[in-house]
Amino acid sequence: MTSDDMTAFFQLHRDLPREGPGEAADVAWATALADIAPTARMADVACGPGGDIPALLEAAPQGHVTALDKTAHFVKEARTRWQADPRVTLLRADMAAIHNEYDFIWCAGAVYFMGVTEALTAWRRALRPGGVIAFSEACWFSDSPSPRATQQWQHYSAMTDADGIAARVTAAGYETIATRRLSDAAWEGYYTPIDARIASLRPGADAAFAAVLDQAEEEAACWRAHRDEFGYLLSLVRPLPRSGSAGR
Ligand SMILES: C[S@@+](CC[C@H](N)C(=O)[O-])C[C@H]1O[C@@H](n2cnc3c(N)ncnc32)[C@H](O)[C@@H]1O
Repeated sequence: MTSDDMTAFFQLHRDLPREGPGEAADVAWATALADIAPTARMADVACGPGGDIPALLEAAPQGHVTALDKTAHFVKEARTRWQADPRVTLLRADMAAIHNEYDFIWCAGAVYFMGVTEALTAWRRALRPGGVIAFSEACWFSDSPSPRATQQWQHYSAMTDADGIAARVTAAGYETIATRRLSDAAWEGYYTPIDARIASLRPGADAAFAAVLDQAEEEAACWRAHRDEFGYLLSLVRPLPRSGSAGR
């Protein structure tokens, strides 16, 4: 991104509750199925502004969340919200190099930056014995998506259907415990605040910024019109024992 693109991006995205679709019920679903302990050590990988941290702490009230993101702006926003809570550590870090070990790794809407197989492979060493990973990933729900939806996702050529995601999980040496589609409420939790932000920024926007707002508006409109064709699939996965190993 050029510095003008970055300025426009953060004008639109500053201080939003989250940076992608998701809701507390997703975290509750995954942590309940994983049966994590109240003292679990958790990572929120690519946490953005930290919108999932409350639900992670609710799942493990005596646990700890290490939330990391590579974008300084988002880490700053999340720190402002969480710096007083000793159960949360905020780091500016690259998800390719996670340190420490966790019972539960959560990654909402960001695994595609590495690729599912690549990320799961890299994160295996960051899992405690018995640890699991939950990630949401863009997914086709239709074999013949409309041209508008295809156009919207043209930048993500690796996007597949649910079987394709499962195959990438298997290729990393993991098994899928369960999956579920993100709900409409999860998507609206992302788009409704953006709608309001676009409306507030529209008056006085110059041509270049108006084009940025148009693009953001089209993204939400496309999802609302074609939500049956694509969405996010949340997958809960665990590593399979390597042959000759005791379980990691
Ligand atoms: C779609 S947002 C999702 C943010 C957050 N999980 C949420 O749901 O609100 C993707 C996030 O990935 C972060 N990101 C991208 N590449 C990254 C990397 N290599 N390491 C860590 N974070 C990264 C971005 O800064 C951004 O905050």
